[in-house]
Amino acid sequence: ISLKPYNSFGIDVKAKHFAEIFNEEDLTALFKNELAKTEDLLVIGGGSNVLFTKDFNGLVIKISIKGISSQVDGEKVLVRAGAGEVWNDFVTYCVEHGFAGVENLSLIPGTVGASPIQNIGAYGVELKDVFESCTAFEIKTGELKTFTYADCSFGYRESAFKGELKGQYIITSVAFGLKTNAAINTSYGAIEAELEKRGIEAPSIADVSAAVAHIRVSKLPDPSTIGNAGSFFKNPVIEKHEFADVVSKHPDVVHYPTADGKVKLAAGWLIEQCGWKGKVVGHTGTWKNQALVLVNHGGATGMEVFQFSAQIIDSVQSTFGVTLEREVNIL
Ligand code: EPU
Repeated sequence: ISLKPYNSFGIDVKAKHFAEIFNEEDLTALFKNELAKTEDLLVIGGGSNVLFTKDFNGLVIKISIKGISSQVDGEKVLVRAGAGEVWNDFVTYCVEHGFAGVENLSLIPGTVGASPIQNIGAYGVELKDVFESCTAFEIKTGELKTFTYADCSFGYRESAFKGELKGQYIITSVAFGLKTNAAINTSYGAIEAELEKRGIEAPSIADVSAAVAHIRVSKLPDPSTIGNAGSFFKNPVIEKHEFADVVSKHPDVVHYPTADGKVKLAAGWLIEQCGWKGKVVGHTGTWKNQALVLVNHGGATGMEVFQFSAQIIDSVQSTFGVTLEREVNIL
């Protein structure tokens, strides 16, 4: 079957086998099948963080487990959502119920089940800030296991599910610890500016969500019309002494200190300085308003996008001596 509808880059590749999962029992049943035991497996949610460079010669498992429930306990609320819930539907549910904590993560593409894997983040908030636990199906044993915050080793766009646990579990639901008394985070400059522009002094979580959505729509291409997977690279984190070298040659480099005494550089800025912003190369290119986002202008192959990304890596390397790492999963 064609995977074109199942990846936000809109790359037209095929999967040898495909299964869609609606509940945990479906997973148990699937793994009784010989096929699931012998074929290579690929689990997908929204397909919004993957670049297919060739057909997938195995079994693609699309997770569509739905359902959202909440338990209020004073100022705390525990919200549990099925892995197949669309992330932004979950955010909307929380905003409408007055549950604070995920409003800054409005409009991020993808599903709830994928959110812990790369510890999604935007506008000053990361998934790890609200993550309580998740349940996951262990492929080897068919058992459901619970992972707490401590089990997940969250880092910047990293978790144990990308590291030591990779390929062993399928996340079926995630529980979030949110608050009924809004503890709003508008520290990110762009949100502050947007709220000010709207004349809002005491923003509600709905105001923050609307401001974030507005910023995203104005900066990022809509995957339903222009294929993309959000930021294609991570913002590189370098040591202080390496930074000293970069800043001596490029005094205006956009950078942020990290909690562990390193320096994070804005990859979008590095790429723009190398002259790539808004460039169209064949069927691919970088987005005109955000150079960190690679796009499919229509009919691009995954290999074409991949090769274009390699050109950008080389260019940033030779200009700044900094190595960009891809954030999107390459298959
Ligand atoms: N910049 C440029 N040129 C560009 C793009 C950015 O100079 O073409 C500069 C901006 O002016 C700004 C800085 O780089 O000073 C940072 O830009 P922005 O606020 O747009 O955020 P980002 O660092 O490029 C990260 C996340 C995004 C997230 C935003 C907002 C990563 C890899 N990306 O991007 O996440 O939405 O911050 O918090 O960390 C994603 O992961 O897919 C994603 C979209």
